[in-house]
Amino acid sequence: MMDLFSEIEEPEREELKNLRKELEEANYKYYVLNMPTLSDREFDEKMHRLQALEAMFPDMFDPKSPTQHVGSDLEKPHPTSPQGEEKGRKAFETVKHKYPMLSLANSYSREEIEDWVRKLPQGVEIVCELKFDGLSISLWYENGQLVRALTRGDGQQGDDVIDNIKTIPSIPRHVVGTPSTFEMRGEVLLPWERFEALNKEREEQEEPLFANPRNAASGTLKLQDPKEVARRGLDAYLYYMLGENLPGKTHFERLQTAKQWGFHISDAIKVCHNVDEVMAYIAYWDTERKNLPVATDGIVLKVNDLAQQEELGFTAKTPRWAIAYKFPAEKQLTLLKEITYQVGRTGVVTPVANLEPVQLSGTIVQRATLHNEDFIKSLDIRPGDRVWVEKGGEIIPKIVGRDNPTPTLPSREGDGFTFPTVCPECGTPLVRVEGEAAWRCPNEAGCPPQIKGKIEHFVSRKAMNIDGLGEETIDLFYQKGLLHNIADIYDLKLEDIAAQERLGEKSAQNILAGIEASKQVPWARVLFALGIRMVGETTAKKIARVYNNIDSLQWATAEQLCAIEDVGPQIAENIVKYFEDIRNIEILDRLRKAGLQMEGESLQPSAISHQLDGMSIVISGTFSQHSRDEYKALIEAHGGKNVGSVSKKTSFILAGENMGPEKRKKAEDLGIRLMTEDEFLELVNGNL
Ligand code: IVH
Repeated sequence: MMDLFSEIEEPEREELKNLRKELEEANYKYYVLNMPTLSDREFDEKMHRLQALEAMFPDMFDPKSPTQHVGSDLEKPHPTSPQGEEKGRKAFETVKHKYPMLSLANSYSREEIEDWVRKLPQGVEIVCELKFDGLSISLWYENGQLVRALTRGDGQQGDDVIDNIKTIPSIPRHVVGTPSTFEMRGEVLLPWERFEALNKEREEQEEPLFANPRNAASGTLKLQDPKEVARRGLDAYLYYMLGENLPGKTHFERLQTAKQWGFHISDAIKVCHNVDEVMAYIAYWDTERKNLPVATDGIVLKVNDLAQQEELGFTAKTPRWAIAYKFPAEKQLTLLKEITYQVGRTGVVTPVANLEPVQLSGTIVQRATLHNEDFIKSLDIRPGDRVWVEKGGEIIPKIVGRDNPTPTLPSREGDGFTFPTVCPECGTPLVRVEGEAAWRCPNEAGCPPQIKGKIEHFVSRKAMNIDGLGEETIDLFYQKGLLHNIADIYDLKLEDIAAQERLGEKSAQNILAGIEASKQVPWARVLFALGIRMVGETTAKKIARVYNNIDSLQWATAEQLCAIEDVGPQIAENIVKYFEDIRNIEILDRLRKAGLQMEGESLQPSAISHQLDGMSIVISGTFSQHSRDEYKALIEAHGGKNVGSVSKKTSFILAGENMGPEKRKKAEDLGIRLMTEDEFLELVNGNL
């Protein structure tokens, strides 16, 4: 009999093991890569199933199971983010949490929430709050100063992202009248408006889009450059105060106190006294949340009284005194009528689903991106299928699967979906670079959307900022044979422009004035405007700082380019390839003759070397030929690293006048060479 039972049990044990693996992987993709592969709902359903299976087979208990710990966002040593943020990432200092950072039990069922409330002791007050959909943060204050800001990490230890947190205006850096130490927890968010603007910018630069504000916030918080973090405009709401000897006997009182101390606490918090009040709160915010400036994905219910909270305690992963009700993502079935293909300015061919129009979260959806060939294949969808379109935390509608089982349609017969082999715009055979998901049309100079896209990018606000040359005008000029590439812009004549319908002499003059003004646009923006693949605005600035003119850049090797901050092998290769193409050289010649800024101010030599590769150099004293900052830049441009203090790892000291006596002594003790300004310049310039 036993054997028979274990045979019956076997598939379920197998399922349990598979679910553990699948959920671990999903956690990694969600928390570390910021590229969720499962919807929240799917994830939660699988987690609930795993919990049920683990209850059935207690002998299979494993403290490492995803049911027993929270997903980890800790930086791995060399994470590569598919969001294209890899170069902005760095390993943050990992610090142990004083109190573990747990998750919340959750449910999509209002009945389960009602049950949870009913099971609480009579007369218990319940605080209802919005569940903000961002990433949790723990803020530590000591003597009124913000001293640490840890991500949740694996729940036991988190990454200290304090420099980035300090860019959030609503998080106070100093507070007064507080206990000497305490912790505030809350959620870091990227407001909808900022999220949309960021994605629009990324789309223009053909960078991968963030799926939702949560991923965008999480990617942003782990960037290396706090200036970029500040520019993106994160915000935060706080919802939990921890520490010893804190004021107040209830959660609600504490949050009101925190508000008085200057913390950003939501106004939507309400103390409820029974199931009806809780359910009314849920019903109200189910619709009202759509008017909020930030994303929410549910409601959190917390026992208000702190003594009662303590009595209820915690499980390994969640408090027993709280539960989250999650709003279901809106999902609709509709017909996938056709797959069409869009060719971008760099030739990437993106499949687009054309749908039977369907109403979803207040908007009509009729198109959705299908990303690439692999995405379509993984969903096994093709025209004629009925597909699920979802709009949950995401603003961009997503196809999440097909109706299962799909009714047998004649269109499902055959070999399934095949991606086009030639460019839908110009007929050139497509290529797919190994390791890349995208198919690309290589006909850069002859494929109409690529030609027009490059011109549109060139004239755009952050590039050459040429007013009056919009998408339609560019299309018109292209059709009429006036524009074939970016250099043609500078050959446009007043009479040619004015002769076009819809464009009189006045607009022609405006366009020409815009073109004339663009000749003053600085070199870094000209470089960005050229539209070299993956060279975005920030990267262009960094390159232009090191290579202050087009000639030096043209002859740079991939290896030298990689020495620039933010430039990885892929970008370096794109730059080298750009200059290998004779057509680009011709265009650049014409742009130079037209009077564009192909040279910028730079404190650095026009070429760099690897003379200082691997060296740690200390700068000390005052200098006569260059400033300290200029020397720092020179060291970096030649592959070295400027470090602050002398140690046995120091390669040499760039020593100016009045060098600090302590440094001098330490250098002598360790036998480290002191190099004068002249010697240093000779060393690096000798390698130009
Ligand atoms: S309380 C010990 N309150 O939801 C419980 N969490 O799915 C502490 N969250 O990790 C959490 N809004 O990042 C709490 N009003 C709120 C929240 C909230 C969003 C997040 C938080 C937590 C996750 C659990």
